[in-house]
Amino acid sequence: MREKKEPVLKVRNLTKKFNLQDGKKLTAVNNVSFELYPGECLGIVGESGCGKSTIAKVLTQLESVTSGNITYNNRDITHLKGEEVRQNRRKIQMIFQDAAESFNPRMKIGHIVSEPLLNFKLMNKGEAESEAKKLLAMVGLTEDFMGRYPHQLSGGQKQRVAIARAISLEPEIVICDEATSALDVSIQEQVIKLLMDLQKKKGLSYVFIGHDLAVVRNISHRIIVMYLGRIVEVIDSNKLTTDAAHPYTKALLASVFSVNRKNSTEIGIIKGEPPSPSDIQPGCGFSSRCTKCIDKCLKEKPELKEIAKDHFAACHQIGDEQIKDVKV
Ligand SMILES: Nc1ncnc2c1ncn2[C@@H]1O[C@H](COP(=O)(O)OP(=O)(O)OP(=O)(O)O)[C@@H](O)[C@H]1O
Ligand code: SF4
Ligand SMILES: [Mg+2]
Repeated sequence: MREKKEPVLKVRNLTKKFNLQDGKKLTAVNNVSFELYPGECLGIVGESGCGKSTIAKVLTQLESVTSGNITYNNRDITHLKGEEVRQNRRKIQMIFQDAAESFNPRMKIGHIVSEPLLNFKLMNKGEAESEAKKLLAMVGLTEDFMGRYPHQLSGGQKQRVAIARAISLEPEIVICDEATSALDVSIQEQVIKLLMDLQKKKGLSYVFIGHDLAVVRNISHRIIVMYLGRIVEVIDSNKLTTDAAHPYTKALLASVFSVNRKNSTEIGIIKGEPPSPSDIQPGCGFSSRCTKCIDKCLKEKPELKEIAKDHFAACHQIGDEQIKDVKV
């Protein structure tokens, strides 16, 4: 379980806006703050387009920040440049859903896994090769995968290679963006177990991003629920089913944990669509879909407040008895 030491990563008031071709701005991430603790797995969940991948990209410097700041081990990494970005990526690695698409199809798996070690000049070719074998063994792949090409592997095997490559540089933080979403349920379980084992062995901290609340809950210690670029709730995952307070989280739970749910049902059962992030209206972003919406919700944005120890929610009606059996 998570130990509350100094956070390894601190995100403060992070906002990311994209310029659109029509001159408008799209607010993908809106004033988001959170911490990641050593050895913690922090889940981020929310519907498509709510800003999850943008957070991942900003944390790994694939996108710049519009405002706010990011601190890694008390060092401000918000505006790193050139070589500093490269060095920082050693410590904060990312695994994507389609990680294998970034593999060079003409490169053998052994080379794909050892390449980061060679690029950072941490080892010579022979040493990197034997390290690649060890890394493959760690993710449950035998030595004979060294000589295979990406197209000769299954989806689950490719994702294991992506994990081996990501941990090759001994990162402290691994950001998994839908890293298991494309896999069959049984393979997904194996890869998640592998990630959890590696976390224990190597003391990694994870940000685990997904749209499947059940999967994210299984691996995470704490869960951030996002809606329209903002955090609407932060809750310990073992309290999720009993203590979730925000109407959006409750609606997600109702859809995900319903008795009729098929495995891996995606979020999307909640009626209506989220509003456009390029036309942010005053008031609560969820008001157009929330049956508990009151006048105040249309005028004032609810702030994220601590409603119980380590439990945060952004809703004008939290605290009211009626919110307990909200149906959306
Ligand atoms: N480069 C970009 N330019 C303009 N808009 C962008 C860009 N990248 C992302 N967006 C927009 O920002 C919003 C957040 O996108 P993001 O990819 O972070 O969502 P997500 O939560 O990861 O969604 P999904 O679950 O579908 O992966 C979306 O409205 C998206 O269209
Ligand atoms: S602030 Fe209002 S509209 Fe938003 S979630 Fe709470 S009750 Fe619903
Ligand atoms: Mg995404």
